[in-house]
Amino acid sequence: MGPADLSELLHVLEAPEDKRMLVPPGDDAGVFLLNEDTALVETVDVITPLVNDPYLFGRISATNSLSDIYAMGGTPLTCLAIFGFSSCDYEMDVFELVLKGAMESIALSGACLLGGHSFEDREMKFGLSVTGIVRPQRVLRKEGAAPGDHIILTKPVGTGVLTTALKGGKVDEDGISEAIKWMCTLNAEAARVALSAHATACTDVTGFGLLGHACNMLRDTEVDFHIRLESVPVFEGVREFVEMGIVPEGAYNNLNFHKSYIDAPGVEEESLLILSDPQTSGGLLFTIKPGNLHILKESGLTCWRIGEVRQGSGRIIID
Ligand code: CO
Ligand code: CO
Repeated sequence: MGPADLSELLHVLEAPEDKRMLVPPGDDAGVFLLNEDTALVETVDVITPLVNDPYLFGRISATNSLSDIYAMGGTPLTCLAIFGFSSCDYEMDVFELVLKGAMESIALSGACLLGGHSFEDREMKFGLSVTGIVRPQRVLRKEGAAPGDHIILTKPVGTGVLTTALKGGKVDEDGISEAIKWMCTLNAEAARVALSAHATACTDVTGFGLLGHACNMLRDTEVDFHIRLESVPVFEGVREFVEMGIVPEGAYNNLNFHKSYIDAPGVEEESLLILSDPQTSGGLLFTIKPGNLHILKESGLTCWRIGEVRQGSGRIIID
């Protein structure tokens, strides 16, 4: 079983039909129609510490929680914090630093923190429930990639490997500062550009890894993703750690789970593990028509063209 995403389960259970439910469980966030021009977009995500610095953990976790709103083309408005915390193990200032970090990310997003809930928990957990708004006609869905589209990724991959190395004492926070900087970067600008470039499909890369989330975009479609391995941006040091065997268990689980949808003859397992590495606060993965590539270029957004969409049967071809 991959990372817990209750949306997936709700999807299987088939939520009762309601016309106001524009996007039912199963996408990055749910979308609920308020009126002709406005829909609510809602999501929740909670993670355990992946860096030692509590302030940075708060920043990363909040950025990660906000990401699903952006992945739907939405604008975050309000947040509620969810905090699992052992008062025996941590001082109050740790609690405050995590919240301070989260507030910083929330402020950057333009949203407000309205409240939250904390509870005793042996392992620290922190995240946000976020509500945003989106124009109903401009919701970015997971599905919709068409033959000829280009596949765009807006952050490098490898945060799972790097934070595993950090936990194992193989590197310190300074050594992975580039990845931390990206994990603290909101997907706001990426979403704005995806919308203005008329993205045909969009998701964010999180726990299922690049290949897992690409698979989700392809489910029940008649297209394939052709991904060029050398075009996928990977954080410095990731390959070396993978070669040393420092790979999060989630990467193996993701790869096993999605293997049957992937054709990668001649691609070594290390590379497939990197492409399956579970990401925290990863980038947006979206598809656009070739005629709109100039909008990306003109926007100045840092992003990578990692492949193309072709007619097919929902598979990923890597070369
Ligand atoms: Co998502
Ligand atoms: Co999510």
